[in-house]
Amino acid sequence: MGKMLSGKTAVVTGAGKRSGIGYAVACKLAAEGANIVIADLGPDSDPELAVKTGTENEMADIVAEIVRDHCVDAMAVNLDVTNSDSIARMVDAVAKRFEKIQILVNNAGASFGVPNAVHTYDETAWMKTIDVNLHGVFRVSRALLPMMILEGGTIINTASRAGKTPPLFNGAYAVAKAGVIMLTKVMASELAGNGVRVNAICPGQIATDLEKWRFGLEAQFFDSTIEEREAEMCKTIPLGRIGRPDEVGDLVVFLASDRSSYMTGQAINITGGQLMEL
Ligand code: NAI
Repeated sequence: MGKMLSGKTAVVTGAGKRSGIGYAVACKLAAEGANIVIADLGPDSDPELAVKTGTENEMADIVAEIVRDHCVDAMAVNLDVTNSDSIARMVDAVAKRFEKIQILVNNAGASFGVPNAVHTYDETAWMKTIDVNLHGVFRVSRALLPMMILEGGTIINTASRAGKTPPLFNGAYAVAKAGVIMLTKVMASELAGNGVRVNAICPGQIATDLEKWRFGLEAQFFDSTIEEREAEMCKTIPLGRIGRPDEVGDLVVFLASDRSSYMTGQAINITGGQLMEL
C-alpha cells in the first residue's frame, strides 16, 4: 500500500529533541512519506525555558535518523517563533530546499512564570507565555501560508486540554491555548476556499519533559513525589495512563492526510477520556 503523505513536505515547529511531541510527530509524518523540516530553537535556546530544548547536534541527529529510517528528505532549521526575523530566515531556508510545503504543525509551546494565580502572575512571564503559544502560531502560519496556499494543504495547531478547561496556576498558558483553538477556527474559515484545512489538537497528559516538569512543580506544592502526582492524575483518566507522544503523532498524521478530508476548524481531544464533551 502507498504511503499517505508521499511527495508532501511538513514543517514541524518545536521538534528538535527526541523526548518531545514534535519529534514523535515528525517521525510519524516521515513514516508516511512526508519530507520533514525540523524547526526549533537549537542554539538560540531561551535561558528562561524551564524545559530545555534540543541542541543543534540533536537536531542534526534527528534529521540524519529520519532520512536514514524513512528515505525522505529532511532538514533542520533554527526557529524562534517569537521573533519575526528568525521566522523569515526559516522561511528562506525552507524555500531554498522545497518549492512548496503542504503540512504545517505548529507544535512549539512553553509556560513561563508558573505556578502563579492571575493576581500574582509576573506580567512579563504572562506576555511571553502568550507570545510563544498563541502569537507564535499566528506568526509562523502567516509566514508559511504563501508557500501552501496555491496548491492547498493542512495546518495542525497544538492547543491543549488546558485551552478548554482551566488548569490551576497556569493561567497564561490556558488562555493562550484557548486562543489557539479560536485562531484555528478563524483560519479554517478564512482558508477553506484556498484548499487549506486547519485543525487543532488538544492533548491531555502526554509523557514529555514538559509534563514531567509540571508534575515536579505539583510534587513540590503538595509535598509529594512526581510518581505520586502521576498516579493521582491517572485516576482522573478513564484509560488509566499518561499518553505517549507517538499516539499524538498518529492523530497528526490523520489530520494531515486525506483521511480527514472533510474536517476543518475542529479541536480534537486526545486525553485518554480525561476530557469528554458533547
Ligand atoms: P517540550 O517542552 O518537551 O517541547 C516543546 C518544544 O517547543 C521544545 O522543543 C522547545 O524548544 C520548543 N520551543 C519552545 N519555545 C520555542 C520558541 N520560542 N520557538 C521555537 N520553539 C520553541 O513540550 P511537549 O510536551 O513536547 O509539548 C509540545 C506541544 O504540546 C506544546 O505546544 C505543548 O504546549 C503541547 N502540549 C503538551 C502536553 C503534554 O502533556 N506534554 C499537553 C498539552 C499540550
